[in-house]
Amino acid sequence: EPFVPPPTDLITLTRHVLGEGFQRAEKSAASGDLTILLSSLQTTCKFIESMVRKASLINLIGLAGETNSTGDDQKKLDVLSNEIMINALRASGKTAVLVSEENDEAIFVGEKKEGSTFEETRGKYCVVFDPLDGSSNIDAGVNIGTIFGIYLVRDGSKGTLEDVLRPGTEMVAAGYCMYGSSANLVLTTGNGVNGYTLDNQIGEFILTHPNIRLPDRGKIYSINEGNSAYYHEPVLKYLDSIKFPKGEGKKPYSARYIGSMVADVHRTLLYGGIFGYPDDKKSKNGKLRLLYEAFPMALLTEQAGGVATTGTKRILEIQPKTIHERCGVFLGSKDDVNDLLKFYQ
Ligand code: AHG
Ligand code: MN
Ligand code: MN
Ligand code: MN
Repeated sequence: EPFVPPPTDLITLTRHVLGEGFQRAEKSAASGDLTILLSSLQTTCKFIESMVRKASLINLIGLAGETNSTGDDQKKLDVLSNEIMINALRASGKTAVLVSEENDEAIFVGEKKEGSTFEETRGKYCVVFDPLDGSSNIDAGVNIGTIFGIYLVRDGSKGTLEDVLRPGTEMVAAGYCMYGSSANLVLTTGNGVNGYTLDNQIGEFILTHPNIRLPDRGKIYSINEGNSAYYHEPVLKYLDSIKFPKGEGKKPYSARYIGSMVADVHRTLLYGGIFGYPDDKKSKNGKLRLLYEAFPMALLTEQAGGVATTGTKRILEIQPKTIHERCGVFLGSKDDVNDLLKFYQ
């Protein structure tokens, strides 16, 4: 039997990020900066992944005891993941402003240095993130994730709130890492969407899903229908239309709802269909947060050929007023989301 060498011709995230031109992002920043930032985010996801995998074994399950500014009870893993991310992003030397679900205020890098062992360098990128998405699923061992979006500071700015209070169309990159049966990092830098799977033995994300494209139509709808009592008319009518389709040979859609946005969006990107967390009579602006949940997922969806809307407007065009504001979300296959939009007209 001839010796078969290990497949070292595979494409790692590191190599892909280094090699692919970042048309949208690198245009106006020092070349290589985004590469370093993405590399630091990649490491962060590996750290969180390893914590998630052993959470049940090292007492990382359960509540941390505090509430965050959007009213969520923080879990231990929310707090730990947040610290891991903040430390890594500060240390990268490439960030100016950080916005996290778990911090009431934005963090301005280079301002305070107490507790830090190194001289903090300010960079040109702003990172908005949800360190641990799907907290309610942690203790049950169900898929969870990390979501991030990246802005470049505006010309001449040292990093202010205005640099992150910008429409999603201005994000230069966005992605998430899903911690499921495998860890999957999905990333866009404005030039399509690529998916990478973590090979735990060599500690590298390998390109396994190049150029992810949403099918134009899917067969799955994903929404917390337990909120039906609060839904507005267009949502109820749309749901009715896919559950009781009229027309010869038309089949009802299948329901899949995990309750971790990362996992529900990941499935939607791969299988198609529609995911929604609409605003309703109880939650006037929905539940999902615009900056670090809706924007990154909307950018990924559009970059994969899908549509992302609140029902009345394109998500990416919303001008944020505050860092933790919320918005209604529908995203997924073009034809499916357009069917929904007909009920809003
Ligand atoms: P997070 O855990 O980061 O606070 O986000 C929770 C979000 C999101 O992951 C998911 O889509 C949604 O909450 C689920 O909410 P419901 O439990 O109301 O369905
Ligand atoms: Mn939360
Ligand atoms: Mn979340
Ligand atoms: Mn979260």
